[in-house]
Amino acid sequence: MNKEIYPIFDQLVSREEREQQLNQKSKVFWMLGLSGSGKSTVAKAFERKLYQEGFFAQMLDGDNIRSGLNSNLGFSQEDRKENIRRIAEIAKLYMNSGVITVVSFISPTIAIRDMAKSIIGPENFIEVFVNTPLEVCEERDVKGLYKKARNGEIKDFTGISAPFEAPINPDILIPTHEMEIHESVSTLYTFAKPLISNK
Ligand code: ADX
Repeated sequence: MNKEIYPIFDQLVSREEREQQLNQKSKVFWMLGLSGSGKSTVAKAFERKLYQEGFFAQMLDGDNIRSGLNSNLGFSQEDRKENIRRIAEIAKLYMNSGVITVVSFISPTIAIRDMAKSIIGPENFIEVFVNTPLEVCEERDVKGLYKKARNGEIKDFTGISAPFEAPINPDILIPTHEMEIHESVSTLYTFAKPLISNK
């Protein structure tokens, strides 16, 4: 960090005060998994559920952030790392504003997720692995990208020509190939509720 930069923290309204006002505890739910695993679908429905239950939550999604803030990044390992670093920093800002934050990114490697976890703080980082197998994601091929990756039209495609490392010890698994969306959401919500409730 540049030595002439002096971040301020002490004059700001604290995270605890903001959480108090919002009557909740803020956390970051880090949803990861292959393209087509269903992570964004579940994340969106989870965000809606949180809203309906009176929580103040915000979701950040790969395809959205990559078309705006991160539009200068591609899919090399270096760019993915920078993508995730920026997302983690944004998620941390949200969290420190008291907002329950749901992020949905492939975040393909253990090293990338470790970086995100250390930016956000291990006690705030909830790792949600949407563990839909590659065969199912490829069979679904919602965006037609697996076909293109197999044909060589897209290079460095996660799971085909770029690595995906499953988490060793995620906080929760969401197998979307074994349950309906509403079941995935209620599984996640039941798990999340005690972590975000202001008791
Ligand atoms: S990450 O690896 O950097 O975490 P991110 O979640 O932001 O990826 O973006 C993934 C989305 O980008 C996919 O859902 C897919 O729509 C699109 N995409 C385009 N090219 C690739 C690629 N080579 N590998 C993976 N996803 C890609």
